[in-house]
Amino acid sequence: MDLGLQGKTAVVTGAGSRIGYGRGIARTLAAEGCHIVAVDIDGEGARETAAELEKSGHAALAVAADVTDRAAVDAMVAETLERFGQIHILVNNAGASSKLKPFVEMTRTDWDLDIQVNLYGQMNVAQAVLPHMIERRYGRIINFSGGRGIPNISIYGAAKAGIIAFTEALAREVAQHGVIVNAIGPGLGETGLVAHAPREFLEANRQRSMVKRLCTPEDVGPVVAFLASDVCSYMAGQLIHLSTF
Ligand SMILES: NC(=O)c1ccc[n+]([C@@H]2O[C@H](COP(=O)([O-])OP(=O)(O)OC[C@H]3O[C@@H](n4cnc5c(N)ncnc54)[C@H](O)[C@@H]3O)[C@@H](O)[C@H]2O)c1
Repeated sequence: MDLGLQGKTAVVTGAGSRIGYGRGIARTLAAEGCHIVAVDIDGEGARETAAELEKSGHAALAVAADVTDRAAVDAMVAETLERFGQIHILVNNAGASSKLKPFVEMTRTDWDLDIQVNLYGQMNVAQAVLPHMIERRYGRIINFSGGRGIPNISIYGAAKAGIIAFTEALAREVAQHGVIVNAIGPGLGETGLVAHAPREFLEANRQRSMVKRLCTPEDVGPVVAFLASDVCSYMAGQLIHLSTF
């Protein structure tokens, strides 16, 4: 099946983590023929991702940007348009989580990290690319939801629940302009995000999984590729829950 991704430009935020979903998604989309813009607050990680892709013959650009900083995001969009001319796909993958903590012990700094990166960050990047996508009457936006209702990450979960409502509304606003918006809720994986989680927590989830393993970047990449593709032109405003629980 031809996904129609050849020659398309995909902005992948949070693509700098060596063990994260973003780099895996960048690899999958590049293999399908996309030009990749690897965006991360960790500029060195983003450069590593872009260098790896270029080494295997793909077009890639690394941009160091904090998704919560609108000026930096606007500069990233301008640099991308200058290099590739169009943004077809936004993978709103950048995310962060404060340390596991009961809600009563969480500080306002913890709340701010969880809400700013996971909710405002995705809204920021979506708002920055949308005028361009609407003008070209083409776009795919994939937002990142995640674990909700999980004890000790209550604010992170609130932000990720907000992403579902945001996705539903935004999809209804922009589908008429040729922009398809969906969300993915990946399963628990051993990425940078959960590096501080106790081993027992990861092991318990491995056992709870129907296939007795955690989610990997290689599981997430193909689902994102579908959502980013021309094949995905009828489903909009939905959440794909990538789970074996
Ligand atoms: N790992 C899981 O179990 C899991 C489960 C469900 C959803 N998710 C979601 O998947 C997405 C990818 O996370 P991951 O698990 O690969 O973790 P990760 O920590 O490996 O990758 C996240 C990346 O986002 C970047 N980032 C953080 N704050 C940023 C900012 N302000 N601006 C730009 N970049 C920033 C980090 O530097 C990092 O490279 C996140 O949205 C996360 O919430 C992860």
